[in-house]
Amino acid sequence: MKKSRIYVANWKMNMHLSDAVDFAAQCKNFMQKNNTSEKQIILCPSFPAITSVVHALEDVAIGVSAQNCSDHQVGAYTGEVSAQSLREAGCSYCIVGHSERRKYFHETNEVIARKVTNLLIASINPIICIGETAQEFKDDKTLSVLEEQLVLVIKAINESQEMPESISFAYEPVWAIGTGKIPDQQILEKVLTWLATYIKKELTHDTTIHLLYGGSVDENSITQLMNVKSIDGFLIGSASLDFQKFKNIVSLL
Ligand code: PGA
Repeated sequence: MKKSRIYVANWKMNMHLSDAVDFAAQCKNFMQKNNTSEKQIILCPSFPAITSVVHALEDVAIGVSAQNCSDHQVGAYTGEVSAQSLREAGCSYCIVGHSERRKYFHETNEVIARKVTNLLIASINPIICIGETAQEFKDDKTLSVLEEQLVLVIKAINESQEMPESISFAYEPVWAIGTGKIPDQQILEKVLTWLATYIKKELTHDTTIHLLYGGSVDENSITQLMNVKSIDGFLIGSASLDFQKFKNIVSLL
């Protein structure tokens, strides 16, 4: 079966509840009017908007994802949100390991692996972000950095009793996020081919794997990115804040 192309709108801390619901309603309308069975849209509101967005998307195949979850399952962790609560709120997906969480909230590969375990227990499809910094890219360390970021996450998946419908790995070079820069096509092909081979070799469970790219995906860069064969979809930050821009990206392919 042909995999559908995935578009993940990572709104970060930008959309307020009413904007999020409004966007979701426009997205629902768009999906109902267009023959888009080969496209999978996933919206990532902030925590307080999740249930309202889920309601706004009733009767349409658009996924809802959280942007983060706790690395604990339950307990005295003030301010944290568990994977199980996200499931009950209607999330089918959750982003983990985004570079902003690694940088500003000091999330380690151990913490990210525990989050993945909790998501699998809660039957949520993880969207796992990995990517190298500008310096690591200059030093030609991309693949070794990605491997380091993947080892514990893959171990967590292999040790899990539960398997979700899909696991997405999003390659997001830190230097491409919000900068307007994207990697050359050749580099992307090389990294994504390596990623596909590595995951196939290391992952002992059989589940659908999606390889996403994220970092300055917009109406311009998408024409170049669509030439990269191994990309199954995109994680879109700032260009997903405006419905028209997002729609143009989704409509292009
Ligand atoms: P950007 O963000 O599209 O604004 O570069 C992508 C991301 O951080 O996921």
